[in-house]
Amino acid sequence: MKSKYKANVLLVDDEPNALRVLSAILNEASYNTSLADGVDKALGIVSAGTVDAVITDLKMPGKDGLYLFHHLKANYPDIPVIFLTAFGTVDSAVTAMTEGAFFYFIKPPDYIKLKAILDKAVEQRRLKYEIAELRSQLESTYGFSSIIGKSPGMEKVFRMVETIRDSSTNVLITGETGTGKELLAKAIHYTSRRHYRPFIAVNCAAVPGELLEAEFFGHERGSFTGAVSRRIGKFEEANTGTLFLDEIGELELSLQAKILRAIQEKEIERIGGNRKIKIDIRLIASTNRELVREVKLKNFRADLYYRLNVVQIKLPPLRERISDIPLLVTHFIDKFSQRENRRVSAVSPEAMNVFLQHDWPGNLRELENIIERAVVLAKKDMIGIKDLPHEIRKEIRAGNLQSNALKPLKEMEAETIIKAINIFNGNKSKAAAALGITRKALYSRLGKAGHKHSGKN
Ligand SMILES: Nc1ncnc2c1ncn2[C@@H]1O[C@H](COP(=O)(O)OP(=O)(O)OP(=O)(O)O)[C@@H](O)[C@H]1O
Ligand SMILES: [Mg+2]
Repeated sequence: MKSKYKANVLLVDDEPNALRVLSAILNEASYNTSLADGVDKALGIVSAGTVDAVITDLKMPGKDGLYLFHHLKANYPDIPVIFLTAFGTVDSAVTAMTEGAFFYFIKPPDYIKLKAILDKAVEQRRLKYEIAELRSQLESTYGFSSIIGKSPGMEKVFRMVETIRDSSTNVLITGETGTGKELLAKAIHYTSRRHYRPFIAVNCAAVPGELLEAEFFGHERGSFTGAVSRRIGKFEEANTGTLFLDEIGELELSLQAKILRAIQEKEIERIGGNRKIKIDIRLIASTNRELVREVKLKNFRADLYYRLNVVQIKLPPLRERISDIPLLVTHFIDKFSQRENRRVSAVSPEAMNVFLQHDWPGNLRELENIIERAVVLAKKDMIGIKDLPHEIRKEIRAGNLQSNALKPLKEMEAETIIKAINIFNGNKSKAAAALGITRKALYSRLGKAGHKHSGKN
């Protein structure tokens, strides 16, 4: 065994002598053993939850080894079962193998072989655990559970993603800076059928133009000055997985043409190479530019745009998903409190009020940074106004933010309604739905507060 952890093996046999011998041998091989002289006792031990593998006699008075095996298969499918059987009952053991038993030995077993098989069984179970563990870690880091949001705008995003989740269509993610484009790209990959294949990201804005081609397609040794060894490009690395082209709007025209060719022909050629390499990738591209406009301005190839834009997902700016702010604030506070080992757990109502009214040009990244800073600075377990950056506090003083002074309830209600209407671009049905009232109620409440709102939606 490689690790220090001693696996626990349950031995089941109605013959005390057989148990003693096998147990001694396995203890020697640094296994822990639990002993049961019958199936009922064995089931009691298994239910305690510490058994890693079972070695059982097949023929026992009362409930036999097969009974035990079927019970384990139904209730503890991950526990491997190894049978010991007398020569006359080999048939049953073979049948059990076809039903998923791990192995069988004819008594008396070759103990060296038995230990080898047991090592394998325990290792397989450990790997299964490890994979399940990693999966769930990936899911919580990159899956949809990592994307916080219940606002109508985000619900729409989630619905869209749900419909494309198992297809391999190209996706274009648009949205202002810091709206979560990269996070979404990862979530799409890690919940798609390709989730166990590579996710490779290239930031088209961060790599200098003259190096990008090699970054994308790789090169053969000596293909240009500086190409001292062969290099695999990102298209090849992402093969069978997902390639994320971040900030694709920054790509220069000559490279756009090369990317388009790779997508269309589903093959690439390394620089200086003379061989076509087949590639199967799902492309996710992101941009904070208005690509349609860039196409009109001839900065972006129309044909590439259409290839990428099979499905477009638009991430709304934070100011259009104000209802998510409290959730996000809590999420970021938890994240940084944990990381910093601080006990900060809440924000003061005044600070929350600032968050709700700030314009958030840097979107979620800006909010995240502000909370990170505040968690570090906070003297108490609550983030207050004084833990916020100077610029935002300046806004309060300059009167950009409404003061927190109390107002007549009717007026606050009307303000909330108007804010909702603005969030939904004037669509009053949606605004009413988001506020949990009927459209009629929305009109009448506005009317009572003396606000006139025209137009039908
Ligand atoms: N819905 C969300 N829930 C939780 N965290 C989020 C959410 N959206 C974004 N974030 C966090 O905000 C930060 C910015 O997100 P991300 O890098 O994905 O944005 P982006 O749109 O790619 O930004 P840029 O255009 O600047 O590259 C990241 O730390 C990300 O984890
Ligand atoms: Mg990004």
